[in-house]
Amino acid sequence: MAAEEKTLKDLLSLGEGYLSRHAVPDARVACELLAACLFKCGRMELYRYADDVPSERLTDALRRGLRRVAGGEPVQYVLGQWDFRRLTLKVDRRALIPRPETEQLVDLVLKSPQAVNSEKPLVVDVGTGTGCIILSLAQELGKGVFVGVDKSAEALALARENAVLAGLEERVLFAESDGCGEFDPGSVDLLVSNPPYIPTRVVDGLARHIREHEPRMALDGGADGLDVYRALLLDAVMVLKTGGGVFLEIGDDQGSSIRDLLEEYGFTGIEIHKDHAGRDRFATGIQSV
Ligand SMILES: C[S@@+](CC[C@H](N)C(=O)[O-])C[C@H]1O[C@@H](n2cnc3c(N)ncnc32)[C@H](O)[C@@H]1O
Repeated sequence: MAAEEKTLKDLLSLGEGYLSRHAVPDARVACELLAACLFKCGRMELYRYADDVPSERLTDALRRGLRRVAGGEPVQYVLGQWDFRRLTLKVDRRALIPRPETEQLVDLVLKSPQAVNSEKPLVVDVGTGTGCIILSLAQELGKGVFVGVDKSAEALALARENAVLAGLEERVLFAESDGCGEFDPGSVDLLVSNPPYIPTRVVDGLARHIREHEPRMALDGGADGLDVYRALLLDAVMVLKTGGGVFLEIGDDQGSSIRDLLEEYGFTGIEIHKDHAGRDRFATGIQSV
């Protein structure tokens, strides 16, 4: 082996060290994700090639990816794709990177009586971003009419691309909208949303890879983080059917404020659900009138 030739194992160690020196969180995982994408295999499968010497082309591509991540770009944007439930979604600066907790929000909707018992529910996702929630619901629930709305035209363009990639473009509609007040009164069975919920003063203190790369419109929930919930619940009361359900992702310190808001807007059967880390993460309620 020539002195400059490096095995994959060497490159992963060097890459990890390089990312750690640039304070990238989970440096090893980031490096493995980049390498796995280039080798077109799973992260764990990489170790089958540990002693191989990757081609110059692959080594250069890995170096370019590492430089971008070291420069502060989220590894998901560098990869250009990210898995969410059964989908592999295109991800880029136009929309928030789907988070693993949000997969649980989809489960809450799928298991709800409104989803199970309706013949053809109208399901609306407010603040659809990449389309991760509504595309998963269309794929896994099957029956129903599925609409994703977002205030960001850029996010919607990405969501539409993801619908095509998932083969769901005939089954999911996307529309530009501030909130969801334009649906017919009493027409929606399930309203789901992971809105921006971070208080404005906290957004500026977020990690650099989030603050400088993910859209502010996807993060900033106003002074107390609750601005979009207030507007959304006002719309929800108008557009939900009696017995329709609202399913929200929330910040881990927002459980009691959101419960109060849901009560104020007349929802019943209110529940605050925890994520896998045991933190308050979701709120659900039923439209009673
Ligand atoms: C936290 S991101 C969630 C994206 C995606 N649903 C997910 O879970 O990954 C919030 C999204 O809400 C959108 N948004 C913010 N304010 C909105 C509003 N008033 N009406 C509709 N969408 C809004 C943002 O553009 C962003 O795409």
